[in-house]
Amino acid sequence: MILSSFYARSISFRFFTLLIFGFLFTCPDSGFAQEIKSPDGNLIVRFRLSDSGAPVYELQYKSKTVIKPSLLGLKLKDAPDLLDGFELKHSEQNTFDETWKPVWGEVREIRNHYNQLLVTLAQPRTKRIIQINFRLFNDGLGFRYGFPAQDSLNYFIVKEERSQFALSGDHKTFWLPGDYDTQEYNLITSNLSEVRSKMKAAVTPNVSQFPISETSLQTPLMMKSKDGLYINIHEAALIDYSCLSLELDDRNMVLESVLTPDALGNKGYVQAPFETPWRTIIVSDKAGDILESKLVLNLNEPTQYKDVSWIKPVKYIGVWWEMITGKSSWAYNDLNNVQLGTTNYMNTKPNGKHAANTTKVKTYIDFASQHGFDAVLVEGWNQGWEDWFDKSKDYVFDFVTPYPDFNVKELQSYAAAKGVKIMMHHETSGSVRNYERHLDTAYKFMVEHGYNSVKSGYVGNILPRGEHHSGQWLVNHYLYAVKKAAEYKIMVNGHEAVRPTGLSRTYPNLIGNESARGTEYEAFGGNNVDHTTILPFTRLVGGPMDYTPGIFETRVSVHNPENTSFVRTTLARQLALYVTMYSPLQMAADLPETYNRFLDAFQFIKDVAIDWDDTKILEAEPGDYITIARKAKGSTSWFAGSTCDEQGRTSKIKFDFLDPGKKYLATIYSDAKNAHYEHNPQAYQIKKRVVTSNSTLIQHCAPGGGYAISLVQIK
Ligand code: NOJ
Ligand code: CA
Repeated sequence: MILSSFYARSISFRFFTLLIFGFLFTCPDSGFAQEIKSPDGNLIVRFRLSDSGAPVYELQYKSKTVIKPSLLGLKLKDAPDLLDGFELKHSEQNTFDETWKPVWGEVREIRNHYNQLLVTLAQPRTKRIIQINFRLFNDGLGFRYGFPAQDSLNYFIVKEERSQFALSGDHKTFWLPGDYDTQEYNLITSNLSEVRSKMKAAVTPNVSQFPISETSLQTPLMMKSKDGLYINIHEAALIDYSCLSLELDDRNMVLESVLTPDALGNKGYVQAPFETPWRTIIVSDKAGDILESKLVLNLNEPTQYKDVSWIKPVKYIGVWWEMITGKSSWAYNDLNNVQLGTTNYMNTKPNGKHAANTTKVKTYIDFASQHGFDAVLVEGWNQGWEDWFDKSKDYVFDFVTPYPDFNVKELQSYAAAKGVKIMMHHETSGSVRNYERHLDTAYKFMVEHGYNSVKSGYVGNILPRGEHHSGQWLVNHYLYAVKKAAEYKIMVNGHEAVRPTGLSRTYPNLIGNESARGTEYEAFGGNNVDHTTILPFTRLVGGPMDYTPGIFETRVSVHNPENTSFVRTTLARQLALYVTMYSPLQMAADLPETYNRFLDAFQFIKDVAIDWDDTKILEAEPGDYITIARKAKGSTSWFAGSTCDEQGRTSKIKFDFLDPGKKYLATIYSDAKNAHYEHNPQAYQIKKRVVTSNSTLIQHCAPGGGYAISLVQIK
């Protein structure tokens, strides 16, 4: 055994390497050449080469099959495949254990503890070498391919990756149709065998941009097996590669990787040395463990940012919901085809619905300042919205030219005097080259005018034509925008970007992403009632979501009589989402005038923390309910939230997470007895109670309801 030293920016670490040259562990019964166990021994991954020299792995959890023997490899373009004909050249096992502190997060410290198996495979007929690295944690497996620098494999194009996940049965699944461009679907719950028949209805015309096939699925894919295992498949550290989807073979229940193509149909341009993103399988017999898992973050690299003091969680309101509901408009006028720079907007007749005007923004700043918010997002402040759907142009926005009724300088000093930041908005309309051309100027403009965070957006088809939101080219763009933002000390919240894969560990100024169906869709027809009981098991496995909760006026018609949508939730559940939908960036999405009608319930949004020292999953079942308690960062206060599906339920929790011997004042914001997401969403009650670590709570949750609790230690 060789004890190697290893540098890490960590509190503690141990790194042991067991090098095995020329001989292998043999597992007599399985036919598998090598195996490693998770640190707690519950998980076992086995690896071997098949008779034809193809890499094969399998995964077990507490003697139950998670992944049956499954093939690994890659197909290359204009070069022999990397699928078989391999010989084992070298194999190495080691253990890693460190504890690190995230810049922001759900817990103060994260333990990164795994056993690793790194195999080096030689393909003698082509004189090429690849590596497969397996990291086995207590909460699951990550594996990735490596291509060491070598003469016979330098530049190459990936035609497809063949990473298989052979499942043990027809699992219950929480899924989204595979799509190279969008994740903004309602989640479907069905058995895997039903995916094909449900796909047509799932691929809604107003959402889908590029559905892949009748049986393709997005990650993070959440499943539950008949023998009680919760299994989540995703990827970590998606860098310089295209995003992963899964193609289901529904006769054999095998999932196989499908990478996003570029305009030419190619799936990845690679130069060795290179390592692919990790493919991740989180597994447990407890649903809550999936929510607690830090595997995806742990598979990302520590941040190299030297100064992170400028990165701070943000609670914000915005000039936003009024446009989403159709009450107001982003555009200043309704002219089409005005070319930027050629129209004198002062002489153009305004449409009378432009929300981002100096007077109105000041009222939002006043409200934010009065109630202790960090920032006000202002969308529709800049020229271009009147013709941004014209895809014959890629120069719609320049990100620095305001509409004539938005006074940048005046608002800068007004906001500064009130201790509030204005959050920048960069809608790119998918014109990515245009955005890259303007990026430096746009960020400089932000710094000069006191902005420290930007919400970016990529609505619609991507320009350059044929590129997809999830392709390698765009994956590289999003990270470029985040890294460049860091040079200007700017935090980024990317909408319509590729689904997150834990990159915020390395780039903590990526404080949010949308990349799923958010609250906005409640005004575009509605989200399934159980949506927020599933998202933490799917989308949030990759990172925080800017879900934009806090809608108290659920009837959209109150703002726009022509819009008959309603938000499928009770008011109390909207409060719960600040705890159950983890994000360091939380919006209070409703209008100030609405909050003024419900100031007692609004108090929870004012009080709730957005950065945490500790998190406890109290109750969880995907599709049914989630109850979470979190301890505010650097504080003795706790907050809890509970969300449930259309059935309603009785939640039973213990307060045993509280400090023993201390008393806490619990303020419980819950559904009234007769509350209902459709008929009676605003029926809530607020009760105060003194609790200790011995206390329990039995709490009614209405259909589409839930509750929120703030717990303040009594000194
Ligand atoms: C879609 C985003 O999700 C939404 O928040 C934004 O308001 C619009 N695009 C306009 O950029
Ligand atoms: Ca359900």
